Amino acid sequence: MVPCDGAGKEVVPEAVKVLRAAGADFEFEELDINADAYLRDGVPIPADAWKKLAAADAILFGAVGDPRVPDPNYLAGVLLRLRFELDLYVNLRPAKLYDDRLSPLRREERRHIDLMVVRENTEGAYVGMGGRFKKGTADEVAIQEDVNTHLGVMRIIEHAFQIAKNEVVMVDKSNAMTFAGGLWQERWKDVARAHPAIKTRHLFVDAAAMQLVKDPSQFDVIVTSNLFGDVLSDLTAELVGGMGIAPSANINPKTGRGLFEPVHGTAPDIAGKGLVNPIGAILSAGMMVQHLGHHEMASAIEGAVESAIRAGECTRDVGGNLSTSQAGDAVVKRLRD
Ligand code: NAI
Ligand code: MG
Repeated sequence: MVPCDGAGKEVVPEAVKVLRAAGADFEFEELDINADAYLRDGVPIPADAWKKLAAADAILFGAVGDPRVPDPNYLAGVLLRLRFELDLYVNLRPAKLYDDRLSPLRREERRHIDLMVVRENTEGAYVGMGGRFKKGTADEVAIQEDVNTHLGVMRIIEHAFQIAKNEVVMVDKSNAMTFAGGLWQERWKDVARAHPAIKTRHLFVDAAAMQLVKDPSQFDVIVTSNLFGDVLSDLTAELVGGMGIAPSANINPKTGRGLFEPVHGTAPDIAGKGLVNPIGAILSAGMMVQHLGHHEMASAIEGAVESAIRAGECTRDVGGNLSTSQAGDAVVKRLRD
């Protein structure tokens, strides 16, 4: 467990509470990785903690970030290091509407939302290649490279087909970003040919954003790059109730390694007041047990969350009036019944 900072510290204990109530017979170990430790020791992840993280069956993560640490090396040294060095190349970001009242969309028939954004998680624009030349002058040049590899693109598209039931929509910007887009287009066609039972469709990212708001019920699996997946998955989160309830999994299906975390950050505006919604972390714990092979436990957790949300036994951001720990208890109670 790496609760880390702010809201993360409040939601991870709720997720563990729910896991225990669901009968998870795991050994839990909490690691002291957070802004306080970074400010004290100057190291994002100490060597002994790294060893434990690399050996763990799964990592349950909160959120990283602290107003006292503007240093980008901290975020990079914690979350990006874990994603890159454990090669957690699949980022799964499901969006499912558990109750009609959480939809911001007016048209009822478009609210049947149960989709998965499959985001490439180890390359793209987030690898930190590039630089700033003549920094701080009127001649400054800033270059941020977008890295796309044959292997990286193949394996993420392949994974999307593995989990799709109906259709895979590939999203890129190959009309304007022709080199990366060209690679995605070619690999996409290759992989699609090997999966004739799954329907396929391609959308440019701008059109995908528009279609997601127009009629999200049309989507099953969306596969895309690191940057586009980051952006579109905030949009899909908002379509089903917002950042407080959006879960995610970062996995390597080949090694079995996985890190599970709510999509939200440390929410400094509301952290520490009992206002933070624990559902994103609880559903992430559900994805963790699913990944570990406990499928019944995973559906029990999801069912309990859905029932608590529908009953309005939840935090303010999703229309209830419970505190963080009371919202966790509302899920626990349903698992015990
Ligand atoms: P944020 O996700 O922390 O907050 C965005 C908005 O959503 C805020 O209004 C917040 O109150 C609300 N919100 C977030 N989580 C919520 C929850 N569980 N329940 C109810 N409302 C919730 O994103 P922001 O403000 O852009 O970033 C804050 C800090 O978090 C920064 O330091 C940032 O770098 C970090 N961050 C870390 C992430 C991670 O660890 N994966 C992801 C995003 C941001
Ligand atoms: Mg994001």
